[in-house]
Amino acid sequence: MADRDIVEVLFSEAQIQARVQELGAAISQDYEGRTPHLVGVLRGVVPFMADLVRAISIPLTLDFIAISRYGPSTRTRGVVRFIKDLDEPIAGRDVLFVEDVVDTGLTLNYVLHTLQRRYPVSLQVCILFDRTVRRLVNDLSIAYKGFDLPDQFVVGYGLDYRQHYRNLPYVGILDPSVYLPDQGK
Ligand code: PRP
Repeated sequence: MADRDIVEVLFSEAQIQARVQELGAAISQDYEGRTPHLVGVLRGVVPFMADLVRAISIPLTLDFIAISRYGPSTRTRGVVRFIKDLDEPIAGRDVLFVEDVVDTGLTLNYVLHTLQRRYPVSLQVCILFDRTVRRLVNDLSIAYKGFDLPDQFVVGYGLDYRQHYRNLPYVGILDPSVYLPDQGK
């Protein structure tokens, strides 16, 4: 599986890198004099996090969680559970929660409530892609946002289909023949 499965590039590598630099500059300015503690959710956030931390010019620290979703039917109604917790406490720290994409908002909402109960000094959110058409939680406060994402099946730059395509340096629309069984592949 490679680039031939991509029917259209929505955000090029250059566009993404330029926007990540802008986000990093804004964060560096806003957190000047403090040491933001960046927290990401594995696995999709890895490319964005790797580029974002290098676009931030002030000292920072980094930690990750991993989650699973399970519930009666679809993930949108499921329960979010930490399967890997943070390695360090966040009490007294300026936490910046980093996500690659927010769809329904259920993950972000759950994680923020969980982190808030651990007494960070501050808790802000930085996301690269926002897909509001699927949003179920509407009162989310997102301080830093890269791009709005249309309601299409996209992969790349951390976004996957069955764990593939995360390494593409751009985000593109996946050929439906990859995931629709009667389309010839
Ligand atoms: C993505 C993304 C968020 C979540 C957002 O993770 O990284 O964690 O979905 O969706 P929501 O707003 O509907 O809750 P995904 O389940 O694709 O796992 P991944 O990070 O391993 O790709």
